[in-house]
Amino acid sequence: MKKIFLSTRNNKVPIVIGNGVISSKLLSTYIKSKNVVVVTNETVGRIYLKEIKNCLKNFNTKTLEIKDGEKHKNLSIFTKIHDYLINNRFDRDLTIIALGGGVIGDLVGFVASTFMRGVKLIHLPTTLLAQVDSSIGGKTAVNHPSGKNLIGTFYQPDSVIIDTKFLLTLPEQEYVSGLAEVVKYGLISKPSLLKWMNKNSEKILSKDKDCLTYIVLTSVKEKIRFVSQDERESNVRAFLNYGHTLGHAIEAAMNYRNILHGEAISIGMLFASMLSVEKNMLNINDFNLIEDTLEKLNLPTDIPKRIKTRDIIKHIKFDKKKQDNRNRFVLLGTLGNCVINDKLKDDFLGKMIEHYRS
Ligand code: NAD
Ligand code: GLY
Repeated sequence: MKKIFLSTRNNKVPIVIGNGVISSKLLSTYIKSKNVVVVTNETVGRIYLKEIKNCLKNFNTKTLEIKDGEKHKNLSIFTKIHDYLINNRFDRDLTIIALGGGVIGDLVGFVASTFMRGVKLIHLPTTLLAQVDSSIGGKTAVNHPSGKNLIGTFYQPDSVIIDTKFLLTLPEQEYVSGLAEVVKYGLISKPSLLKWMNKNSEKILSKDKDCLTYIVLTSVKEKIRFVSQDERESNVRAFLNYGHTLGHAIEAAMNYRNILHGEAISIGMLFASMLSVEKNMLNINDFNLIEDTLEKLNLPTDIPKRIKTRDIIKHIKFDKKKQDNRNRFVLLGTLGNCVINDKLKDDFLGKMIEHYRS
């Protein structure tokens, strides 16, 4: 079992990582209230809620299950969770445990940050994406009909407990999609991780226990490095968006259906890597290593045929409205070093996307 800390200006968040670490003793160490509410979804609840409740016998514990899916990460469910807390007369002596993937973590984190102006929060992330990315760093959110994650807060949890054994029940496609975020750390800051993943792809795909601990621990350490320098994303935290400009545009062009976030990011990362070569920064051998690693991990690299290049540009432009009307791409200066380029014109991007698709 490893314990590391995310230190920000106002918080020092313990993060525990290991295989089979969840226990009554461990949870009791981190819970500092009499009352506990575990919020999860019906899928994760069916598999893990009984076990987690058994670990919480020392507390006045209640559980709440919501429906599964990104479409439930909205203000209506946010209000329903508040209603539940209010109807059960909870006060500030409360720890909310978010048991689930990024959807539960974002939604429940937002509830914890707002109920009674903020109560204690523990993340128990159960997807690879949540373990290596969304549970670390304090971003909470719900979606608005106009777009994803438009409403939310920055709110650091009191602790994050990452048990890699949860990943054994995660559907294959969700697991592989989460690997894209792990590859991302290899590209933006830790080339040795990328090389290791390239050599160990089969073991990674088989969810080898030691591999899981290595990729999760290494990713969390990288994420901590970015967040501790820039909690509110005014500079280096933006590098975590590598591959996201095109990735988000692909997700939006597909109405967030038939493609998982990590799959879209995988395509976006290879495209950003191609742009980095085009701009004479990344060398071609490193580009080939990136492409080979994504393919060995069964991650997609082709832009889906059903979406048109002009729709992708339209969504990139919608995104850029939020960013001084510029197309903002994170590129690689070299493998492991990012630069922001906000000077790419729509015409050039259109040509590059066509070139990438050919
Ligand atoms: P998710 O939470 O929808 O989980 C994916 C699926 O796996 C769901 O059906 C879920 O029920 C199921 N599942 C979860 N754990 C399981 C397990 N152990 N065994 C079996 N099934 C399991 O998706 P996700 O990819 O974890 O998260 C995506 C969300 O994360 C998005 O809403 C995105 O905006 C958000 N996100 C937030 C941040 C952040 O910094 N806060 C970063 C990245 C992504
Ligand atoms: N997932 C990007 C961030 O946490 O900043």
